[in-house]
Amino acid sequence: MEIVDLINKKKYGGVLTNEEINFVIENYTNGNIPDYQMSAFLMAVYFQGMNSDESTALALAMRDSGEVVDLHDIHGVKVDKHSTGGVGDKVTLVLAPLVAYLGAKLAKMSGRGLGHTGGTIDKLESIPGFNVVLPLDQFKQQVNEIGCAVVGQSGDIAPADKKIYALRDVTATVDSIPLIASSIMSKKLASGADAIVLDVKVGSGAFMKTKEEAIELSRLMVQIGQKANKKVTAILTSMDEPLGHKIGNSLEVYEAIETLEGNGPEDLTEVVSVITGHLLAHAGVSKTSEEGYLLAKDTLKKGKALPNFYQLVEAQGGDVDFVKDKNNLLGHTKQFVITAEKDGYLETVDALNFGIAAMKLGAGRMKKDDKLDLYVGLDLHKKIGDEVKKGDAIVTLYHNEKGLKDAIKLISESYVIGNTKRTLKLIEETITE
Ligand code: URA
Repeated sequence: MEIVDLINKKKYGGVLTNEEINFVIENYTNGNIPDYQMSAFLMAVYFQGMNSDESTALALAMRDSGEVVDLHDIHGVKVDKHSTGGVGDKVTLVLAPLVAYLGAKLAKMSGRGLGHTGGTIDKLESIPGFNVVLPLDQFKQQVNEIGCAVVGQSGDIAPADKKIYALRDVTATVDSIPLIASSIMSKKLASGADAIVLDVKVGSGAFMKTKEEAIELSRLMVQIGQKANKKVTAILTSMDEPLGHKIGNSLEVYEAIETLEGNGPEDLTEVVSVITGHLLAHAGVSKTSEEGYLLAKDTLKKGKALPNFYQLVEAQGGDVDFVKDKNNLLGHTKQFVITAEKDGYLETVDALNFGIAAMKLGAGRMKKDDKLDLYVGLDLHKKIGDEVKKGDAIVTLYHNEKGLKDAIKLISESYVIGNTKRTLKLIEETITE
């Protein structure tokens, strides 16, 4: 088999066999195929696409390029969730203890933030002492004992994806649905869970800007997962405004705690409850996802899963006293408040720009090795559709001077107060096949 023949086959729209896809991935990972040929191959895929069998073969080949985590010695059904990345997305921080309280097992490997989207691992590191690197045995033991663990993704997971993603980044081949779907699923399948819920964000602050694209991506990821014998559901959730009110690492931990206390923002509470409902149904804890949803909502409302959050923090070496007084998470910065210039309703919020503004303050990375300020960020006091009076606080910036001027300018240009009271649809679609 020669790579040049496979590039040619894909260039003319041919369908690659499993063997051919395995050949490409194996030989690119071990260095036999050089970057210039892989770049041509990726561009051919970009233009000609891949069907669901090819995408599945690609995901499985990338999964098998590294460690496939074996979670068999954790009792019960192991569940996982994945978000395609949004602004203010602190779902995992609430969902992990919630799922543990309700009796499923969440063994979660999460990422760090890049660009305008945050990462769960950075958020957890705003809790002093919280350890995001656990040996596999300890990770599994913790899930067995307390029902959840959240760690950074091991470097050995899907190394082929890592190498290909870096190449896609510099060859304008990131925004290809089969390449995105197989990239995400290779890592999810390598992480070892039996059931996965995919939260595909759609809207201004998301990777997928239109509903059509988001549906196509979701369908493909669900098909890949099911072909790999996993239970998979995808939900499409709106990212036309940030999720909840707070953006920034420690601020998002604060809001997650508020939600676990039963006082969280409606949209965050809803997304967490919907995802948990599907996970509980997959795990057999509830008969249906609706029943699981109601269970999740009731648990949050009554604050019953908050002790499980403290248990998670303690198990991973975090300072429980620090989070028990949650104001500690807000007390490390100065504040600057942007107020409304007129009466009306909040009509639009540019979630992407809010994410960028938080990044400029130091909450996110422009480059992979940028150092974060874990305590800066934004608090958006209004949601789309809320009434606003002139002089009301719209956004509080938690800052340490860095990037303040740029962030104020960007935020001031990134929301609209008008006469229309809009309502957003939060859960746009549920995809099960
Ligand atoms: N996230 C991934 O892991 N892979 C992609 O290709 C895009 C987003």
